[in-house]
Amino acid sequence: MHAITIQNNALVWSDVPDPVPGPGEVLVDVAATAVNRADIGQRLGFYPPPPGEPEYPGLECAGVVTAVGPGVLEHHLGERVCALLGGGGYAEKVVVPVGQLLPVPAGLSLPEAASLPEAACTVWSNLVDLGGLRDGGTLLVHGGGSGIGTFAVQLGRALGATVIATARAAKHDRVRALGADVVVDYTTDDFAVATLAHTGGRGADVVLDIVGADYLARNLAALAPRGRIMTIGFQGSLSATLDFTTLFAKQASITATGLRHRPRRDKARIVRHVTDQIWPLVAAGTIRPVIDRVLPLRAAAEAHHLMESSSHTGKIVLTNDEPRAACRRP
Ligand SMILES: NC(=O)c1ccc[n+]([C@@H]2O[C@H](COP(=O)([O-])OP(=O)(O)OC[C@H]3O[C@@H](n4cnc5c(N)ncnc54)[C@H](OP(=O)(O)O)[C@@H]3O)[C@@H](O)[C@H]2O)c1
Repeated sequence: MHAITIQNNALVWSDVPDPVPGPGEVLVDVAATAVNRADIGQRLGFYPPPPGEPEYPGLECAGVVTAVGPGVLEHHLGERVCALLGGGGYAEKVVVPVGQLLPVPAGLSLPEAASLPEAACTVWSNLVDLGGLRDGGTLLVHGGGSGIGTFAVQLGRALGATVIATARAAKHDRVRALGADVVVDYTTDDFAVATLAHTGGRGADVVLDIVGADYLARNLAALAPRGRIMTIGFQGSLSATLDFTTLFAKQASITATGLRHRPRRDKARIVRHVTDQIWPLVAAGTIRPVIDRVLPLRAAAEAHHLMESSSHTGKIVLTNDEPRAACRRP
């Protein structure tokens, strides 16, 4: 088969051996995968795949089951699926543990379905499972125009929360259209001041953070009593000073998680909850895939260049067939 391999920090369309499903795994013919920020880190050599996972990039895909490993009874050949992957999505075929398979949400094309698993699982895990965001709460989402952010804004809205998002000005209209009540241009305005102003001084119950150290003090300032900072990424500085008086005064918590490195049983639990709780919202059109562009998998390097420029909003999808007009913009 073909896959995109990484050679000297470049993405190369390569001939590689076909993967073979083991016990509890299926083989999926990949119709589409999607680009995640982590793939850029992997290409540049500072975010290697966890042990035992495929070496090619690609954290999600959609396609058709073409083989099943020993002991797999609940999936059949020809079944349309999407999947959360530990790697290997930038390929024509990928082996997937059955616990990481999801059905294709009703009404979605395979490229649309491929854009969802990583964002849906990360966002559900951080907003609902760990973050406890509730109806009537306030959510602050950093990077509201990102693949993760566009999903988080929609889920926050669907949960009944007030949603405040940060984004560069060019993305504000799209982020507002997804359901953000307030969008703050983080390049010119202080999001903590804006969050407090829009919540009558109370602050956000949950902050979905992709910046880390450089935002620690302001995230804490923007937090409501018993608020939760959910850190899923870091950019810029790697360490910061934590003001414990504010942490105690607010009885706040800070959590950091990385989905890719969680054990397979944890991923399977998250996938089950996403299938049960989130897929109905997708099928109903309450949450829509937000796809900036669809490119052929062979053009993965162009897709990385686009993501590094941050001119995209939502997801960049890569297909093994010539991209069709299969994806709707919101
Ligand atoms: N821990 C996990 O399990 C997990 C899983 C998936 C993703 N992530 C993380 O989530 C983040 C988004 O991933 P993605 O794949 O959706 O990437 P993406 O689409 O490329 O988005 C990156 C975003 O970062 C935003 N950004 C950069 N600097 C910012 C700042 N100072 N303040 C606010 N926003 C800023 C950009 O906003 P503008 O374009 O508006 O400038 C852009 O929307 C990444 O950090 C990724 O590592 C973590």
